[in-house]
Amino acid sequence: MSGASPATPAPTTPAPATPSPATPASATSASATPGSGSPSPADSASDGGTEPVTLADLVARARRRLDAPLSDRRPEWIVGSVAGVPDGALGAALGRRVDAETEAHVDALVARCAAGEPVQYVVGVWPFRDLDLTVDARVLIPRPETEGLVELALREVSPSLGPGGRKVVDGEDSEVPVCDLGTGSGAVALSLAFEGPPTLRLWAGDDSDAALEVARRNLDRLAATTPDAAARVRLVSGSWFDALPTTLAGRIRLVVSNPPYVAASEWEGLEPEVRDHEPRHALVPGPSGREALELLVDGAAYWLAPVGALVLELAPDQAEPLAQRARSAGSFDEVVVAPDLTGRARYLVARRDRG
Ligand SMILES: C[S@@+](CC[C@H](N)C(=O)[O-])C[C@H]1O[C@@H](n2cnc3c(N)ncnc32)[C@H](O)[C@@H]1O
Repeated sequence: MSGASPATPAPTTPAPATPSPATPASATSASATPGSGSPSPADSASDGGTEPVTLADLVARARRRLDAPLSDRRPEWIVGSVAGVPDGALGAALGRRVDAETEAHVDALVARCAAGEPVQYVVGVWPFRDLDLTVDARVLIPRPETEGLVELALREVSPSLGPGGRKVVDGEDSEVPVCDLGTGSGAVALSLAFEGPPTLRLWAGDDSDAALEVARRNLDRLAATTPDAAARVRLVSGSWFDALPTTLAGRIRLVVSNPPYVAASEWEGLEPEVRDHEPRHALVPGPSGREALELLVDGAAYWLAPVGALVLELAPDQAEPLAQRARSAGSFDEVVVAPDLTGRARYLVARRDRG
């Protein structure tokens, strides 16, 4: 389902230009060979100055300037976002004539893309699961694998019997406390509020006030379309668990997080599109890359209810060491590593069942 903004690319489209936070420069990028972004003489208004310019012309011109193959859909996303045409409807609207202002606006956005800025920041709104989220350089661009994190988290709070027959959420609960730590744009917390049981009460924390401003904007977007879901979310400021009210200690049913997990030594090897534009603070927690993950595994025991779960996104090479840490902590009854859609170990689920 599409979200509120009519001009946003379809959620089913994979984010094209940004690898996962832990993916180094070897990952493919749809914008790996951008063009100069400068209009050539042949690119001037309507490629001749007299013919009316259509959306099709703008798409073709953007494609040339970005040196983009047909599989790269940035031209369509940029033109659609400026023209206010939803991604799925652009094909039917390609013959529409545009004014000089639209043309100039598209040109400006294409130039930003050609200079290496991720298309998600350029268009400013990006789909994540069922929501359209505002994204800018204050927050990480939500990744497709984080949609999988939400899927796992939703399973843990399913009102029916959860994995292993545990009943994390049952019909007797009036409120089910959940926290998303390192919320960034709010992608995870807002999706849980929108898709999860109405009893969820979500605390979405970050230590970046700039990121929380973006999360606030997205919470307001959600409130405009689904006020009930938005009312379940509280944004809180602080480092990891410190952001939470102490009254939640021992009561949280689900701790979910996609923390920074890139080692400091990997930073230089990231795609320039990531390294030069996304916040380092959202990607690198410290020298090992495991600092935030370890803190979350170690700290969850104090905050989780007797029946509850910790669900984390991580890099494949971090999965087993972190699972081992969770097992040896003695605070969990079941620890599993879960794969993403491509089969890579990308999630840790640690459950306790001491009800
Ligand atoms: C990988 S991003 C995830 C953003 C969002 N949850 C998502 O999945 O798209 C990590 C987030 O953790 C936040 N962060 C980094 N250090 C933190 C800390 N000490 N306490 C709380 N949040 C932190 C960053 O500001 C960033 O928003």
